[in-house]
Amino acid sequence: MKTITSIKNSKGQIPLTVITAYDALFASLFDSKVDIILVGDSLNMSFNAKPDTLSATMEIMLYHTRAVCSGAKDTFIVCDMPFGTYTDEKMALHNASRVYTETGAHAVKIEGGQSRAHIIQTLTQNSIAVMGHIGLMPQYVRCEGGYKVRGKNEADILALIEDAKAIEKAGAFSLVIEGVVASAAKRISESISIPTIGIGAGKDTDGQVLVWSDMLGFFKAFTPKFVKKYLDGAELIEHAVDNYVKDVQNRAFPCDEHTYIK
Ligand code: KIV
Repeated sequence: MKTITSIKNSKGQIPLTVITAYDALFASLFDSKVDIILVGDSLNMSFNAKPDTLSATMEIMLYHTRAVCSGAKDTFIVCDMPFGTYTDEKMALHNASRVYTETGAHAVKIEGGQSRAHIIQTLTQNSIAVMGHIGLMPQYVRCEGGYKVRGKNEADILALIEDAKAIEKAGAFSLVIEGVVASAAKRISESISIPTIGIGAGKDTDGQVLVWSDMLGFFKAFTPKFVKKYLDGAELIEHAVDNYVKDVQNRAFPCDEHTYIK
């Protein structure tokens, strides 16, 4: 199982594999296969059918993180800090401490660049491991007026590099780069010594993360450009459920094989 040290040492090595999970069942299927499981607040959209991540609460994240920790005993687990739970140092420390005291997660993830570096520093100085998250930050969707790809011009690239450096200096052990032009993500990655984990950020980061329900084809509402579907999950399930309904209605299920017979 990965540790903070082995994750940090993976910079420039074999890319880190990260997948989200929200429950014990799927976490157990991913356990030991990927390097890191992220209990992302994306669960608010794919599990809770909400339009964005903003209404995920601390209680929701703690519940799902406990479930994931029960299902995946041999994988490094990161819990996303939900919107509004780390707006100042005191609140951030209180809420991030709950992740450690109430779940088995190994680290928390925080969205934000330079303006959030002081929060990350407070957590790391109080022995809480932090994964940063810059670029397209879903928790900023309403104030930004949508999901916008970053790193399209030199000024923005330089701002992102400053964000990355501030987060590294604050003590984060890794950094998610989301929705950033590939060449910009490469430059950000090269500017810091902690590993970067990309999502929609090209191939030159130190790892990749995908949301499980996107990459396994369970989330039907839309498929972002950066997602590769490794399974048609929704189609397989719909087909199976149609067959079950047909079997029950035709009295083809249960047959003797599935029946207790004296
Ligand atoms: O919430 C989430 O799943 C995330 C990933 C997209 C990185 O933050």
